[in-house]
Amino acid sequence: MQFWKKLTPEQIHQQVFEALGKNVDYKERLPLGLPASHLDEKVFTPQGAMLREAPFLSTLVQNPNHIGCHTLGDSESFFAGTQEIERELIALCAVDILNGAQAGDFDGYVASGGTEANIQAMWIYRNYFMRERGAQQAEIAILCSEDAHYSMHKAANLLGVKGYAVEISPEDRSIRSGGIRKAVEQAQAAGAKYFIVVCNMMTTMFGSVDHPEPYIKVLEAAGLPFKLHVDGAYGGFFFPFSKIEHTLDFSNPKVTSITLDAHKMVQAPYGTGLFLIRKGWMKYTYTEEAKYVQGLDATLSGSRSGANAISVWMILMTYGPHGWFEKIHILKYRTEWLCQQLTGRGVKYYRHPGSNIVTIHKSGISSDTAAQFGLVPDSHIDPTWYKVVVMDHVTVDALSQLVEAL
Ligand SMILES: Cc1ncc(COP(=O)(O)O)c(C=O)c1O
Repeated sequence: MQFWKKLTPEQIHQQVFEALGKNVDYKERLPLGLPASHLDEKVFTPQGAMLREAPFLSTLVQNPNHIGCHTLGDSESFFAGTQEIERELIALCAVDILNGAQAGDFDGYVASGGTEANIQAMWIYRNYFMRERGAQQAEIAILCSEDAHYSMHKAANLLGVKGYAVEISPEDRSIRSGGIRKAVEQAQAAGAKYFIVVCNMMTTMFGSVDHPEPYIKVLEAAGLPFKLHVDGAYGGFFFPFSKIEHTLDFSNPKVTSITLDAHKMVQAPYGTGLFLIRKGWMKYTYTEEAKYVQGLDATLSGSRSGANAISVWMILMTYGPHGWFEKIHILKYRTEWLCQQLTGRGVKYYRHPGSNIVTIHKSGISSDTAAQFGLVPDSHIDPTWYKVVVMDHVTVDALSQLVEAL
């Protein structure tokens, strides 16, 4: 581990307040040109003594704006202290969790969520194909599995490119070369020559995991240019700790970018997606007109709260790598317990061995029971599957009540 270590609450307190000390203080320095200030004091009445004990709340109240991408060099100097913590967070995720060689090899930022991070990736690759390869929009296609998150379809719509869903095998939710070939041929028939591939590190509904190799083989065999993004919004903070061999991280040279989402498994506040990409790619989404922003802006979001980055950093540093592994191990144990109970009762379900999602077929659970326990259906109109996500509050006690009801 190069960046990830366990820190005491005192060390975290000291580092966050040091960072805030390097940011602008709206009360002391009176910057007159920013459309920003500390949080409204009529509503968010800060109690000095309480805030001094609370680094995250203090950051919220100081209200740093992390507009832009801070791994690229120049950034807004008003918030330099907390940007430094965001940079450390990006390095920790890229190197210590996702197996990148060194921090200097990566760019990234804390996005509003997994949707934004996925769109950011596809935006970059669309612009790359158009700028460097002379592609027309109609010649660019997004390829992902049928089980991929709907943000891929949102991206296709926004970016004016076409999306193609690769059939999955209903038994094990895996993608197969045949399905990929079929989707590629369909895209080619519609004029596609350049491909943006999205592989899942745990899908939303099933927790299934895609292997990139079948995509790579099919596209390379056909001589078709492609870029590969990994959507780890669900699995990025879980699957890498499952000790299952995979090629979905930066140790695979074909993977150019990865989405993570701390407001899922990390229990961080909403607004904590993470976008990570190899150096040299952010330039494709620079908006040159963002001239009033120091360092310009290559991100999708514009203004965003620096407190979000601080919250994720604080959580990861509180656990440290071993503490995090232990936490995931406990969730895996509970997931396995549920699977054993379902197997024992002959209930049909899907679970990837590296995931904490158990998806129960409708043959094994009534819609009333699913609603009673807050299980999420694959479709609110015509459900076939209902998922259990084994989170911190989903204990064996809670799961045993579901099992009894089955
Ligand atoms: C696999 C996957 N990707 C992307 C997203 C989108 O994340 P967000 O809702 O944070 O935008 C989700 C959300 O559930 C997801 O499960």
